[in-house]
Amino acid sequence: STTPIKVAVTGAAGNIGYSLLFRIASGALFGQDQPVELRLLEITPALKALEGVVMELDDSAFPTLAGVEIGDDPTKVFDGVNHALLVGARPRGPGMERGDLLEANGGIFAPQGKALNEVAADDIKVTVTGNPANTNALIAQSNAPDIPSSRFSALTRLDHNRAIAQLAAKTGATVADIKKMTIWGNHSATQYPDLFHAEVKGQNAAELVNDQEWLEGTYIPTVAKRGAAIIDARGASSAASAASATIDHARDWQLGTAEGDWTSMSVVSDGSYDVPEGLISSFPVTVKDGEWTIVQGLEIDEFSRGKIDASVKELEGERDTVKKLGLI
Ligand code: NAI
Repeated sequence: STTPIKVAVTGAAGNIGYSLLFRIASGALFGQDQPVELRLLEITPALKALEGVVMELDDSAFPTLAGVEIGDDPTKVFDGVNHALLVGARPRGPGMERGDLLEANGGIFAPQGKALNEVAADDIKVTVTGNPANTNALIAQSNAPDIPSSRFSALTRLDHNRAIAQLAAKTGATVADIKKMTIWGNHSATQYPDLFHAEVKGQNAAELVNDQEWLEGTYIPTVAKRGAAIIDARGASSAASAASATIDHARDWQLGTAEGDWTSMSVVSDGSYDVPEGLISSFPVTVKDGEWTIVQGLEIDEFSRGKIDASVKELEGERDTVKKLGLI
């Protein structure tokens, strides 16, 4: 279509934004034939820096970039948007308890949810990258009663991509050989990358690897703690890969998943796999015509059950905290 798709990005002057905006503008999200309009939200003190980024977007002369608007008022910036990529969040400061962190983020995601409810386009799709992503998404969703809850999601695609890369390295396969990877649960250290349903060149990944000790002692912790390993190495958090995963997530949601494969998205549970209804938890999903469906009927063994339950329990704890705080 030649009508531009309007994409909002929050925290646009931040590290992820610096990579994400240029990928979107260059056509990585919806292809070279689909113009996009960027709507960029920042806090007031960051608007000057954001103006600098917009100068660089101008200087890139992207043919697919149909326009850019910036501002600090979500009800203006989100007006008519089709996709909202909520990246800006409050990081954990020194001495900050989990409850303080959730409360500070509630101050961001509750008003943004309300603004989306008021002014976003009818087909709005919301992706939360800013941490704690799953519970931030739950806060935004709870504050947007007129938007179907299925239009809210949180990013576990970076974990999914990391899980694929580590499995490819272990098996000597290419990333393209790997299908049906799943991240279950929360985007946190409790997440569960599942090799029991993944396939390498059509072969079951857990059977191919055949090493439960490696799976438990190396693979799962390496994927779950990859963010910390990158901070250690780079002296800064993963920004380009987080931006890339945000693109993958939003693109698959808009354009669909490949035949014979699925992806991982944190979406509102309908009770599938005994994940309590209403929690925003990561599942294997397929997407068709812009609608996701949780893959049904996977057999969950005792080991996987324990891992999923532990992560879901953490999500329930976060939900209970934000409920007590009156954020949902
Ligand atoms: P950053 O600190 O460089 O940028 C965040 C930006 O958000 C800042 O420019 C800040 O001014 C802005 N911001 C804060 N409050 C805002 C508000 N109310 N409205 C609009 N903008 C606001 O952080 P970075 O590296 O870009 O990361 C952003 C978030 O993404 C963090 O919460 C980080 O933990 C998370 N993240 C999530 C990943 C995932 O896989 N889900 C992976 C990597 C990072």
